[in-house]
Amino acid sequence: MKEFKKNTWFYPLPVTIIGTYDENMNANAMNAAWATIYDYNTVILNLGHHKTTDNLELNKAFTLAFATKDTLEASDYVGLVSFEKEPNKIKNAGLTPMKAPNVNAPLFKEYPLTLECKVRSIDEDYHVIGDIVAIQADEKILTDGNVDPKKLNAISFDPINHNYLLLSGEIAGEAFKAGLKYKK
Ligand SMILES: Cc1cc2nc3c(=O)[nH]c(=O)nc-3n(C[C@H](O)[C@H](O)[C@H](O)COP(=O)(O)O)c2cc1C
Repeated sequence: MKEFKKNTWFYPLPVTIIGTYDENMNANAMNAAWATIYDYNTVILNLGHHKTTDNLELNKAFTLAFATKDTLEASDYVGLVSFEKEPNKIKNAGLTPMKAPNVNAPLFKEYPLTLECKVRSIDEDYHVIGDIVAIQADEKILTDGNVDPKKLNAISFDPINHNYLLLSGEIAGEAFKAGLKYKK
């Protein structure tokens, strides 16, 4: 065993894209890897202060899309550049915003799986808790009517080596079944 000093190393970290509107209904997106499930049908985002957090405080709504192999470069870009400095951020990234059906936030056509969320709370350190109100999935990632991880082709963030990793959907084992062989 080699011991490393403490660090924010956690596997897997997702690559989520948080979509919000500003006061003029301009769509914005930011990359957030420190995001996960908080409770049943609830997510938590660990954010710093960004244009996105101003938008969240204003509209109390966001979309959370999962970055994919096809959207990798756009996803990285929206994590490198702030709307404050580049109001053409969404256009530059080649993203197509449209109003989400159930919340006051934009969906982006290029992302095939998106959670629509309402803000439950934001604390002074920008820990955002959001309730999932609906999920939008592009038909192209469905097999027999359900989301197919192989078609989704999501990516994960490697916080140690600063790479994006493919989640190509190869099945390693069946959950709630693989361990049954040890059950006495
Ligand atoms: C891979 C990656 C992961 C990131 N994760 C987070 C995160 O979890 N929380 C955060 O506050 N910022 C995170 N960022 C930085 C924001 O995406 C970045 O500051 C962005 O420009 C904010 O956009 P905005 O000012 O237009 O809202 C991440 C950036 C990258 C590239």
